Amino acid sequence: MTEDWLKERVWPHFSLVMKREEIYLANHSLGRPPDLAGHDVASGIGAWYQDMDGAWKWWLVAMNWFRENTAKLIGGDYVVPKTSAGQGLRAVLNALPLDTINVVTTTEEFDSIDFILRAYEERGRAKVNWVPPSRGFLFDTADLLAAIDETTDLVVISMVIYSTGQIIDDMAQIIRKVHSVDALVLVDVYHAAGVIPIDMFSLSADFMIGGSYKYLRGGPGACWLAVHPRNMDLKTLDTGWFAKEDPMSFQRASDAPRGDAWLESTPAILPFYQSRAGLQFTLDLGVPRIREHSLMQQSMLRDAFRENGVECFEPDDPHTFGAFSLVPCDDAAGAVKCLKEAGVNVDSRGDKIRFSPDVLNSEDELKEAARITGNIL
Ligand SMILES: Cc1ncc(COP(=O)(O)O)c(C=O)c1O
Repeated sequence: MTEDWLKERVWPHFSLVMKREEIYLANHSLGRPPDLAGHDVASGIGAWYQDMDGAWKWWLVAMNWFRENTAKLIGGDYVVPKTSAGQGLRAVLNALPLDTINVVTTTEEFDSIDFILRAYEERGRAKVNWVPPSRGFLFDTADLLAAIDETTDLVVISMVIYSTGQIIDDMAQIIRKVHSVDALVLVDVYHAAGVIPIDMFSLSADFMIGGSYKYLRGGPGACWLAVHPRNMDLKTLDTGWFAKEDPMSFQRASDAPRGDAWLESTPAILPFYQSRAGLQFTLDLGVPRIREHSLMQQSMLRDAFRENGVECFEPDDPHTFGAFSLVPCDDAAGAVKCLKEAGVNVDSRGDKIRFSPDVLNSEDELKEAARITGNIL
C-alpha cells in the first residue's frame, strides 16, 4: 500500500472526515469513519419509515452480517452483539456457577474492565489477583503464568495493553496454562481488532471481547463478546428473549430452551449499520496489510521524532507493540492540550502521549507532527 495508491483508492472514501484541518493521530482512540457510515445508518432508519415492523427482517440481516463478519475478523464463529466490551465481560462473569469467582488479571486492563472487576470484588462476587508489570511499565509473561494456579476460575487479559501498546507475548502459552488448571480465559482484543491479526480458534481462547470504535472505524455501540463453541452450555444470567429457542412463540417458561444461547434482550440495531462500512473496509484491506503499514508508519514517526529531538519510547522489537507509539512526558495531559492547539490531535495515558498513524495519514503529516511535538516539548 503506497501513499499514491491509498490517495487514489482509499482516501476518497473518507472525504467527509478528511475535511478536518488537523493532523489526526488519535486513531487508536476513535477511528475515522468512512463516508458510507452515515448512508448506512440512514438506510437502517429508512427501513423503519418504509416497512415499520417489516423492518425487523432487514435489521436482523444487518445483525447477522455484523456477527458473521466480526467472527471472520477474529477467526471465531459465535459472536454476540453487545453495546460495550464491559457488557461482554459481565455476561461471562454472570455465566460462572460460583458464589465467588477467582479471577487473575493485570493492573493495566482498560478502565471499564478494571472497574467492573473491582465492583464484583467489592460485592464479594470475585476475588481478584491483580498482576502488575515488572519490567518497568511492561508485563512479563512469567508473572502471569505464576499467578495462574489450581484456584483460578477465570483469567481476564488484554491482547494489547491499552496504555502502552505492549502485546502480551505468548498468549498461547498463557491460555495453555489456564486450561491446564481447568480455568477459562477471556481475552480483551479491543486494542488489537482491526490492526493485529487475531485467530481465536488457534489460540483456543474461551471468550473474546472487543468493539468497533477504534481501529474498526465503526463508532461507539457496536461491541461484541465471542464465545468458543465449547462454552455454549454455560448459561449466562445476562439473558433475554432473543436467547430463547423460539423467541416469537411468546411462551413463558423459566427453563425455556436456549436457541441462540448467548443473545439477550432486544438488540440495539443502528450500531450494526453504523459499523458496517468500517468493518467491510478492514476486511477488504486485510488486517495483515494494515499491520504492515502501521509498523512502517510508526518506524517513520520514530525517525522523525529523533530528527526533532523528541525522546520517544524505542521498543526492542516493534512487532511486540500494537498500533500506537509512545512519547513519555511528565505533563502528558498538558502537552496533549498544546499539541491539539497546534493542530496535532493525540491523547495521553498517565505520563505517556499516544500517537497512532493510520492509512489516512501522509508521510508529510507524520514529519510535521514530529516537528510540532519537538517545538512543544
Ligand atoms: C482494551 C480496551 N477494552 C475495552 C475498552 C472499552 O470498554 P467498554 O466498551 O466497556 O467501555 C477499551 C476502550 O478504550 C479498551 O481500550
